[in-house]
Amino acid sequence: MKDLLATVKSNVSIAENIYAITLTLTGPLKNISGGQFVNLSVGEGAMLLRRPLGICKIDGNDLTLCYQVKGKGTKKLTEAKAGDKLKVLLPLGNGFDLNEFNNIAVIGGGVGIFPLIAAIRAYKDKNFYSYIGFRNKAAVCLLEEFEKSKLLTVTTDDGSYGDKGNAVSAYFSDKNRPEADVIIACGPPVMLKVLKEELEKRNFNTPCYVSLEERMGCGIGACLVCTCKKSDGDNARVCKDGPVFNIKNINL
Ligand SMILES: Cc1cc2nc3c(=O)[nH]c(=O)nc-3n(C[C@H](O)[C@H](O)[C@H](O)COP(=O)(O)OP(=O)(O)OC[C@H]3O[C@@H](n4cnc5c(N)ncnc54)[C@H](O)[C@@H]3O)c2cc1C
Ligand code: FES
Repeated sequence: MKDLLATVKSNVSIAENIYAITLTLTGPLKNISGGQFVNLSVGEGAMLLRRPLGICKIDGNDLTLCYQVKGKGTKKLTEAKAGDKLKVLLPLGNGFDLNEFNNIAVIGGGVGIFPLIAAIRAYKDKNFYSYIGFRNKAAVCLLEEFEKSKLLTVTTDDGSYGDKGNAVSAYFSDKNRPEADVIIACGPPVMLKVLKEELEKRNFNTPCYVSLEERMGCGIGACLVCTCKKSDGDNARVCKDGPVFNIKNINL
């Protein structure tokens, strides 16, 4: 884990309320798994608390993070411009380990698609079957990153692009759904909750790993801001023990 001062290369809008920021690091980032994340300073002054963002793309020394404008921090980040310096702590968390799997179902919703893109990029020789959902057409972005999937289904809640519905319902209602060795998923809490319920209802024994989003402070396991409940009643820190968990082992 390193705390680096990165230089902003670009920071552009890629969909309604969604930006991609590319940071140039002082050296290449190696051995990164999709699901790992960074803790990024969003500018000088009052915004001391860093914001966790999933690693989306790495090209040489360039690291791209994609973010939805939610509150003060991400709003401030939209003001960053080429040449600005931002502090970035990385890589954090565990990420998706797909080494033992070949056929991978990918279920992503909204900003949850960004860490899944890094997972697809990290494993060039695997077969991916992707089901990704957005709120509406204006929120659709980065479809090109899913094109290497053997199958790609895009949904929107209102049907303004792709199929009407969401990524979880698209997955379970797909009559031609290929057999997967593993499911990986990331999306809003309600999406992951429904995914867990559907898997349990159908007695699915395909392993399923999900990347969680929780409010965070330190990002390194020290402050306990990001605690979530495990199925056995114990607590887990999303930043340090996750953010990727076997869906069976956590309460959603
Ligand atoms: C491991 C991890 C990876 C993430 N990756 C991405 C990503 O790739 N792209 C992206 O757009 N967002 C991602 N998030 C969510 C992102 O961190 C929050 O949206 C961001 O910190 C909000 O900061 P803010 O100052 O703009 O909002 P605040 O003013 O702090 O809060 C505004 C709203 O956002 C909600 N919020 C704050 N923190 C989080 C959080 N951690 N998760 C979900 N909702 C939150 C608050 O409840 C509130 O409703 C990730 C979160 C985690 C924990
Ligand atoms: S954010 Fe501090 S322990 Fe997880």
